[in-house]
Amino acid sequence: MLHLIADAQTSEERFLRQIFVRDQMAEWSKHPLLMAKADGVLYWDVYGKRYLDALSGIYTVSVGHNNRRVIDAMRRQLDVLHFSPPMHGTNPVAVQLANLIADVAPGDLNTVKFESAGSEVTEAAIKMARQYHRLTGNPGKYKVISRYLAWHGSTMGSLSASGLKGRKTVNEPLAPGFIHVFPPTCYRCPFGKTYPSCEITCATLVNDVIEMEDPATVAAVMVEPIGHTGGIIDPPPEYLRILRDVCTRHNVLLVFDEIITGMGRTGHLFAADTFGVLPDLICTGKGLSGGYAPLSALICRKPIADAFWGPAETNPGFVEGHTFEGHPVACAAGIAVLNEIVEHDLCANAREQGQRLRAGFERLGAKFGVIGDIRGKGLLQGIEFVKDVRTKERFPAAPGFGVRVGRRALDNGLLCRFDPHWLAFGPALNVTGEQLDEMLAVLERSMEEVLNESGE
Ligand SMILES: Cc1ncc(COP(=O)(O)O)c(C=O)c1O
Repeated sequence: MLHLIADAQTSEERFLRQIFVRDQMAEWSKHPLLMAKADGVLYWDVYGKRYLDALSGIYTVSVGHNNRRVIDAMRRQLDVLHFSPPMHGTNPVAVQLANLIADVAPGDLNTVKFESAGSEVTEAAIKMARQYHRLTGNPGKYKVISRYLAWHGSTMGSLSASGLKGRKTVNEPLAPGFIHVFPPTCYRCPFGKTYPSCEITCATLVNDVIEMEDPATVAAVMVEPIGHTGGIIDPPPEYLRILRDVCTRHNVLLVFDEIITGMGRTGHLFAADTFGVLPDLICTGKGLSGGYAPLSALICRKPIADAFWGPAETNPGFVEGHTFEGHPVACAAGIAVLNEIVEHDLCANAREQGQRLRAGFERLGAKFGVIGDIRGKGLLQGIEFVKDVRTKERFPAAPGFGVRVGRRALDNGLLCRFDPHWLAFGPALNVTGEQLDEMLAVLERSMEEVLNESGE
């Protein structure tokens, strides 16, 4: 008989030592955050402390916590079919969700491969690009171009495409065939230029990189339309259009990693719509199931999907799969979430509340004089902290002003994303103006306290 641990005991260090978390564990166990309950945009931890969730978990709880429509749909599905054999086919719920996604996805992006995690889907995008080229007579095209500061996931392929040294070096050597370029960090242009006289060098250089590498070896360019890690890297309007042209010119697939930006976050169902640029593949996850079950999806354009049809002797189909792909209960959640977003026009709410969020950040910038830049769209927006807005000089790196403010915000009951030099909000798409104001008020108090305490 297993010995069951009482609720309260889960917060004691000897019990916490038996689980790996994402954080630095020795530090985390001193002030462990253990969420016990959630509703709407609120969490409560095991001690009963309330938190405003300005991050929707991690850009995932798209239609709020404790959403009855989603929960009821999953319950109904559990009573009917909780698992189908993935080696022998799929199930009606997965087919329905695939068709719904095809309906709302931009352009001719109309065929879907389900997975569970974001990393699985970015990994699948790399495999799809390589296999597509192989099937269409270009087996030498295998390289993937992505960006420094990007995060595409934890598996070896997706990690190799990522550009965060802190998360990569501990796992090196990574997979070969991955090339990195500089992202459009206009506020601190890596080329020392200024928009628009820069003529979007960061995008046009991708063409040079492909030519230097040899277009016959390049399979895909993978980018987040708005980069998250690195501090909400929102590109100038021409950037993604230029990448589109460059990729088309060289028969290279353009992959949008919309694990964060997808499902309404930037004010349209996909950031591809927000920017008016059609990629060849879209990776989506996180908000797709609202966090009610692990669910992600790779969506591809019709000509790419078509390449995977053909006689069995010459065409093996898409050689990629996981045990939990198309999980019926996860897909039932996905259908309910998508209906919730579309029926309540939560994209419009993301646009409207996004403006309120921007205004709130601007107000904090004017009040404290330590916000150098505000970036992002809809309900994915962040601020870059600087000691001096004129010179863009940063605060000391360790632990960083952003980390101090973010930790103070947690103490004050607000969950947001923070890094040494930046902080971001990404609340549920159905957040109200009042709730957003409350979140901004806690951020304001937290900034004030940190500034007062350090005399800055
Ligand atoms: C842009 C992006 N791509 C991929 C991933 C990987 O997703 P997952 O953690 O679900 O594997 C993440 C996760 O944070 C992400 O933000």
